[in-house]
Amino acid sequence: LLQTLKKIFAIVNNKTLSEARRLETIETNFSKADNLRNLSLTDLLFFLNSDKLSQEWGRISHGIQELKLPESTGGINPGDQRAIFYLTRAINANSVLEIGSHIGCSTIILALALEQNLKENKIDALNRMTSVDIKDVNDPIRQPWKAFDSPHSPKKILELIGCDWVVEFVTEDSLSFLSKCQKTFDFIFLDGSHLAGVVYQETPHALRLLNPGGLILLHDYFPDNQPLWSNGYLISGPYLAVERLKQENLNLDILPLGDLPWPTKLDSHKTSLALLIRKI
Ligand SMILES: C[S@@+](CC[C@H](N)C(=O)[O-])C[C@H]1O[C@@H](n2cnc3c(N)ncnc32)[C@H](O)[C@@H]1O
Repeated sequence: LLQTLKKIFAIVNNKTLSEARRLETIETNFSKADNLRNLSLTDLLFFLNSDKLSQEWGRISHGIQELKLPESTGGINPGDQRAIFYLTRAINANSVLEIGSHIGCSTIILALALEQNLKENKIDALNRMTSVDIKDVNDPIRQPWKAFDSPHSPKKILELIGCDWVVEFVTEDSLSFLSKCQKTFDFIFLDGSHLAGVVYQETPHALRLLNPGGLILLHDYFPDNQPLWSNGYLISGPYLAVERLKQENLNLDILPLGDLPWPTKLDSHKTSLALLIRKI
């Protein structure tokens, strides 16, 4: 009964309702999930429990800690960073798109994993990753990273770890960028606006720009619109967007990463990362 009441409370809360209402006003945008990887839970667990990737992470994680990226100021937590590294490496992504650069907590991990893939695949082309944010996250005048206790701009951090050749930053609204983007990508991370309407509209673009067998990863996806942690924190937008996308695209499904094999935040292993997958 408690679970049911909690569910009703969460669904009926005002913020979720207004998100759902706003989402309803957006025109249907049919999407094709054909290029998405048909990833099973078994595949996911295989990726996350890889001994090879665990050893690699062991070698690079010390350097990442030394960068002194802040926690709990809007960037993804170290446990989520590790999961993103594993996924990008596991699918051998050779091109990456990130929406939502912020202070670069995810940017640097995606860049490190991508750089390793590119080295192994003997690809030395520049800018195989694009990171988009509506704000200029590297603005030398305003220095926005300082407000979030980060020691350097995302671009500077990439320079420090020797990955600046991998990433180009774009300052633009995600929908404007996605609608005219000509590149295609193996791995797309959506962590920009968390409004249901925006995620709903970003996803068909992301599906169109995805290479066959690629992955689209969402952050702040709360399954069943329920808080994941004891602090009751809940963002409804990505969940509501995916519910509508699933109704309109029967091939599309979501695979929340659930409990990771390592800690994430608030003494838990829980993550709000979730993969869009193709149903067969
Ligand atoms: C939660 S933060 C991203 C965190 C980042 N991935 C990290 O780990 O450091 C969300 C970012 O998305 C950006 N954003 C919000 N709405 C956006 C939009 N419509 N288009 C592009 N970026 C947007 C914000 O400016 C913010 O920097």
